[in-house]
Amino acid sequence: MSWLVETHRRLWSSGIRSSPFLHSSLDFSFTSSSNLCSYARLRLATPSTTFVDVTTTGSYTPRTVPERSSRTTAAMAQTFQNKSFVLNSVNNVAFEDRPIPTLTNPTDVLIEIKQTGICGSDVHYCTHGAIGPFILRAPMVLGHESAGIISQVGPAVKTLKVGDRVALEPGVPCRHCPRCKGGHYNLCVDMKFAATPPYDGTLAKYYVLPEDFCVPLPSNVSLEEGALMEPLSVGVHIARQASIKPGESVVVFGAGPIGLLVGAVARAFGAGKIVIVDINEERLNFAAKFVQGAGIYIPQKGLSAAENAAALLKAHNLPETGVDVAVDASGATPSIQTSIYVLRTGGTYVQAGMGAPEIQFPIVEMCAKELTVKGSFRYAEGDYRLAVELVASGKVDVKQLITGRVKFEDAEEAFEAVKNGKGIKTLIAGPE
Ligand SMILES: NC(=O)c1ccc[n+]([C@@H]2O[C@H](COP(=O)([O-])OP(=O)(O)OC[C@H]3O[C@@H](n4cnc5c(N)ncnc54)[C@H](O)[C@@H]3O)[C@@H](O)[C@H]2O)c1
Ligand SMILES: [Zn+2]
Ligand SMILES: [Zn+2]
Repeated sequence: MSWLVETHRRLWSSGIRSSPFLHSSLDFSFTSSSNLCSYARLRLATPSTTFVDVTTTGSYTPRTVPERSSRTTAAMAQTFQNKSFVLNSVNNVAFEDRPIPTLTNPTDVLIEIKQTGICGSDVHYCTHGAIGPFILRAPMVLGHESAGIISQVGPAVKTLKVGDRVALEPGVPCRHCPRCKGGHYNLCVDMKFAATPPYDGTLAKYYVLPEDFCVPLPSNVSLEEGALMEPLSVGVHIARQASIKPGESVVVFGAGPIGLLVGAVARAFGAGKIVIVDINEERLNFAAKFVQGAGIYIPQKGLSAAENAAALLKAHNLPETGVDVAVDASGATPSIQTSIYVLRTGGTYVQAGMGAPEIQFPIVEMCAKELTVKGSFRYAEGDYRLAVELVASGKVDVKQLITGRVKFEDAEEAFEAVKNGKGIKTLIAGPE
């Protein structure tokens, strides 16, 4: 039973002795794992049914693991210290209790999460377990679109206090690499981004961030709106990449949350004619109301990209020479191709949608028109603050995007809504 002694030592050295768990008797059950080293699952006999993984050769990992679902259900009725919504493996999610994260840097703050939105990337990790090079290799808390209330501040925190309401910017860059120093921290190769493996996300009661990645919400901006600052910041970054100027004509492909928000930011930036394109009529009808004065266009089947571009320009009395800016927020190949044909010479194209990794692209058209072609990835300095300002000043009404609300215990419903393209945004409240 030397493993037991060793386990005890590890728990002790990792500070668990100070936890209320150790005041109760330990009830051990032992399972052996064929692939790794021997493995002990300790059931700490407390009312809160908490588990701790301890390997007898690896280092102690403070995480809780789900037991059989009957137990998980039973545990749900009990008190959690940090209830978390965890993706264990493809299509296998569970509620778990996790340790409350500790502040590691003096400028860190602990946030009690109050509202979280779900987007396509959360769902993609659920259904595929990977996005590009980011592969789920261990259980991961989902969620990255959150707002909450500061519940603890580190000793060097200057700008926030307990009780402040904030939107969470969920990616913390290294701050030292050339990209970070150049002001493009969204391009940091050492980014720690919520719910991107191996980093846990925000669908938990508590989450830790450095103070400068928490953006305070003014009193007229709700926590629900705060959770929408993440996709709005994506929209702000796209509109900035496109350098949209007053009076310019803009075509946005895709009327999902991102396309809608790009349209709304373009309007706030003073764009002239805005046309939103989608194959889903319901979404387009919503877009026409959401982006003031926007026109809509459904691509016609059987037409080439060049023909659809010409038909769009004609339908909206735009010059047949093309528009100033085109943005793809659909990821669909026909949208990307049509974007290039719909632009004027010297126009600007921004790719925001992430669909097929390789496509056929009208490269000669791009070259001959001398287009500016850019990518757009997440958000960087100032995008979150501008997003909050656009909402606080009434220029963008993100409340309209909230088409569903569920309790934390029903988080899976929000994932289903995204999966089925139901509504625009379903927010998850809590956990309480
Ligand atoms: N660049 C970034 O930082 C960033 C951040 C978030 C999301 N994204 C990407 O942006 C895209 C949009 O995100 P979302 O959350 O709004 O997704 P979404 O799936 O809700 O919206 C995509 C929309 O595109 C429409 N569409 C599909 N095929 C089309 C076609 N052929 N022509 C026109 N419209 C078509 C769909 O009907 C849908 O309404 C996704 O590809 C997502 O991965 C990028
Ligand atoms: Zn998102
Ligand atoms: Zn960096």
